[in-house]
Amino acid sequence: MQQAIAVLDSGVGGLTVAGEIMRQLPKEQILYFGDTARAPYGPRSTSEVLHFTKQIVDFLLLHRPKMIVLACNTATAAALEPIRSSVTIPVIGVIEPGARAAIKHTRSRTVGVIGTEGTIKSGAYVKALEDISPGIRVTGLACPAFVPLVEQGLYRTDSARRIVRESLAPLAGEQLDCLILGCTHYPFLSGFMSEAMGPRVKLINSADETAREISAVLYAGSMQNPSSEPPEHRFFCSGDPVLFGRIAEAWLRRPIDVTQVTGMLSKVR
Ligand code: DGL
Repeated sequence: MQQAIAVLDSGVGGLTVAGEIMRQLPKEQILYFGDTARAPYGPRSTSEVLHFTKQIVDFLLLHRPKMIVLACNTATAAALEPIRSSVTIPVIGVIEPGARAAIKHTRSRTVGVIGTEGTIKSGAYVKALEDISPGIRVTGLACPAFVPLVEQGLYRTDSARRIVRESLAPLAGEQLDCLILGCTHYPFLSGFMSEAMGPRVKLINSADETAREISAVLYAGSMQNPSSEPPEHRFFCSGDPVLFGRIAEAWLRRPIDVTQVTGMLSKVR
């Protein structure tokens, strides 16, 4: 059996990263975990998000993956370093790739970042952007209304359009040329976001750059899947598997099989 790339998120948001991995690395098998019963992570404390992330990583390690992807900005901000130092396989987060992608695109060196309260409060994007490009101007905005819309499958509705427009209004006066979608759920709403921000602001989604980093790590470590059989991806969630499956199939445009994990998370630790 081939070794999978384990991908985790608080819910369906990490599917935006999983989809990009499937596109860029079609031979790789994905093991996905969405903690839908406990989403959103955004309003939770750093220690709680770290605790949940550790529980999920312990669960995923039972399946012997070759790599772990924290496809959640909130979990990356709270848990990337502690998880990296507790496991022996590569662990990849989404914040540094997102920051790199923005630096590639910005001309004005004035970048916006939207994310959960946890991600924005952590200052992780400001730090990642400053590390690469000192002196860059960064405006952060927490958008707590977005994740529940996506988790409930309401991301194509008129009320989603209105909520996106109202939530992004504080950025209207800023001279941004790039807006980092600093939450993996946000690409579900990117059509409404483009409408609200106008054509001069490029939306930066970290999924593409994250998949590229995964690819580089696989190649550097000669860890690519050697088989030419199509991979069988596996999906786990802690909440309603029907709702998860509906959103996942619509996003990934393929049929998927979802297993609900209940109770197991508390047992692994
Ligand atoms: N998708 C996640 C992120 O990138 C978490 C959203 C949430 O659960 O609040 O931050």
